[in-house]
Amino acid sequence: MKFKPTARAAGMEYAIRDLVLPAREIERSGTRVIRLNIGDPVAFDFDTPEHIKRAMFDAVLEGNNSYGDSEGYLELRQAIAEREKAKNSNSVGTESIVVTTGITEGIQLLLGAMVDNGDELLVPGPTYPPYSSVTRYYGGKPVPYRTIEEKGWRPDLDDIRSRISERTKAILIVSPNNPTGAVYRENDLREICNIAGEHGLPVISDEIYDMLTYGTEHVSPSRVSKDVPMVILNGFSKSYLVTGWRIGYVVFRDSGGYLSDLQDAFLKEARARLCASNPAQRAMVAALRGPQTHLTRMVKALKERRDYTVRRLNEMDGISVTAPEGAFYVFPRIDAPGWKSDRDFVLHVLKHGHVLFVNGSGFDSQYGAMHFRSVFLAPVDVMAEAMDGLEKALRTAR
Ligand SMILES: Cc1ncc(COP(=O)(O)O)c(C=O)c1O
Repeated sequence: MKFKPTARAAGMEYAIRDLVLPAREIERSGTRVIRLNIGDPVAFDFDTPEHIKRAMFDAVLEGNNSYGDSEGYLELRQAIAEREKAKNSNSVGTESIVVTTGITEGIQLLLGAMVDNGDELLVPGPTYPPYSSVTRYYGGKPVPYRTIEEKGWRPDLDDIRSRISERTKAILIVSPNNPTGAVYRENDLREICNIAGEHGLPVISDEIYDMLTYGTEHVSPSRVSKDVPMVILNGFSKSYLVTGWRIGYVVFRDSGGYLSDLQDAFLKEARARLCASNPAQRAMVAALRGPQTHLTRMVKALKERRDYTVRRLNEMDGISVTAPEGAFYVFPRIDAPGWKSDRDFVLHVLKHGHVLFVNGSGFDSQYGAMHFRSVFLAPVDVMAEAMDGLEKALRTAR
């Protein structure tokens, strides 16, 4: 006899970490695997800026080790409000901001308050998996809208329109996108906001990669539309190199009171989970208000790594990729015939090339199929080794 877990938990999938088990098997036999599956810059050669580390250290030494407020540390929410105003011309008060344990918790709380059985969330196809899996967890249905690979993975506006139903609760935008690296243009954002406005739907905007772009500046939908109700999720993990500290935030941007009950429900959930890390929140004040010079260095290094990776991939027979304009992922297409699935391809590359990628179908079974995702966070010499491994695996008989 075995205890039977719930179907909703058994259905939770996260392809980005699911393939670590077969990688560990190979590592156990003494072979080094280059892991390019997880989007964590701190796991590579990007280090948390010194002044941010010091602020965390000081916050602990000064005794900020108790529980904090459920909605977040007030001074941090003030700094976030200033940041939103400066970056996106988005004027929000601290009462509209909630600090969470990473965006990840923000997604859980938001969809917990938004999605009931049978409700639908329009998500980009492909997309960052938790938006789909958490929607399913709450009995809802993620409905992917097409993004057009030949046009740099920009959103297909007609497809968005055609997928709206009576059960649609919101339209999700993730720009810069994970896994495609697409940075949505202002006219596309304006059109998505118009569609949302016509149907009385809020827009959810995940902006975690907003500072990591390579030439095309990020535009927030909150800058483009001032009247469509919006829930903005952002976080410190990537831009401030604190992935393990788990601090993010959610902004309810709403002029007409349309989101007030949703925000109340969100806050009820937030109180039930107590608070985000107290000392880490204080350190994030220093992150927002202190020097930002690490970002310039980071973007420069990432651009070089992106250019190298894209060139190598496009030189390979059977692989093609559009250059990402933001974030730190490439999402190449597997053109070579004969593969059973993208997962089969990724497992083959792991076994014969000793590089760990993520299968594209983990980001959407339709729009991600026959693709794979790689980070380009590693230094060029490591990316070179990984690309050599991929080439070797492509030459190895299946
Ligand atoms: C689009 C997107 N949103 C959110 C997250 C998670 O962010 P956090 O570390 O703030 O939970 C990620 C992590 O990869 C991401 O790619």
